Amino acid sequence: MVWTGQHFLGLEDLSKEDIQSLIRRASHFLEAGNRCEPNAPLTGKIIANLFMENSTRTRCSFTIATKRLGGDCIDLLGGTSSASKGETLVDTAMNLEAMGVAGIAIRCSEECGPSDIASNVGIPVINAGSGTASHPTQALLDAGTLLHHFGCNDLSGQHIAIVGDITHSRVARSNVIGLTKLGAKVTLVGPQELLPTDPVCETSTDFDAVLQEVSACMMLRVQFERDAYVGEDYRDKFGFTEERFANFTGAVLHPGPINRGLEIDDCVASCNSPQNKILSQVSFGVATRMAILEHLIG
Ligand code: CP
Repeated sequence: MVWTGQHFLGLEDLSKEDIQSLIRRASHFLEAGNRCEPNAPLTGKIIANLFMENSTRTRCSFTIATKRLGGDCIDLLGGTSSASKGETLVDTAMNLEAMGVAGIAIRCSEECGPSDIASNVGIPVINAGSGTASHPTQALLDAGTLLHHFGCNDLSGQHIAIVGDITHSRVARSNVIGLTKLGAKVTLVGPQELLPTDPVCETSTDFDAVLQEVSACMMLRVQFERDAYVGEDYRDKFGFTEERFANFTGAVLHPGPINRGLEIDDCVASCNSPQNKILSQVSFGVATRMAILEHLIG
């Protein structure tokens, strides 16, 4: 691996080869059943999960990844930390460093939160989702899931749609970077009001037309907690319905959490078809975070 960064803040910092190398290592962990290696690299080390926003997949997978690598971890959650008394994110992180943690996985609403922390501590910082800007570990696991599905080492020749509430999606922003670096063509699809005003790739409001052209479709959650608004026809126009699934041969992804019956039908999200990659993404998430933790801290 060429990448020598001390932190994992965004996929813009990584080359195509760095991304492929991390995915290869994560794939090794997945094949090994995500078991702890001999001479587990995080033995004796404690990782802090500093999560100022709620999470199921990302936080649990960092915890499991740390333990699989022989380390231990602590969770500091927004509502129960002294951030609720006005302590800043950077002060919180500096205090965790002073207690001897070996690295921090940070989720926060501020776009620059992870980089602000990284500028003020001497331990590795991993961006576990920052505002609407960036979710690079998710994008890495999504890219790995797609490489496994296609059985390829890159995504050249693949056309991938990212569909839904793009405006509020850090997953979309990081995925455009990661998928494009691996050679894919990416089209962002959604209602005009949920598409970016400064798109970095092709956009469309016609889901059915795009669906004819793509080999994978990444559905996104409508983020009501960030004041997204959708009309009553949203499912008909942009949902991955049973009817659309019946006419699609590509892969279907969703980073979760899911609004079942809105952006994706219940029967599609739960089906056993090899096209359904949703839980494969979650499994590969643990392996991906193991690869990142091992590289930065192990
Ligand atoms: N995909 C994702 O980030 O899920 P969580 O918010 O549950 O971590």
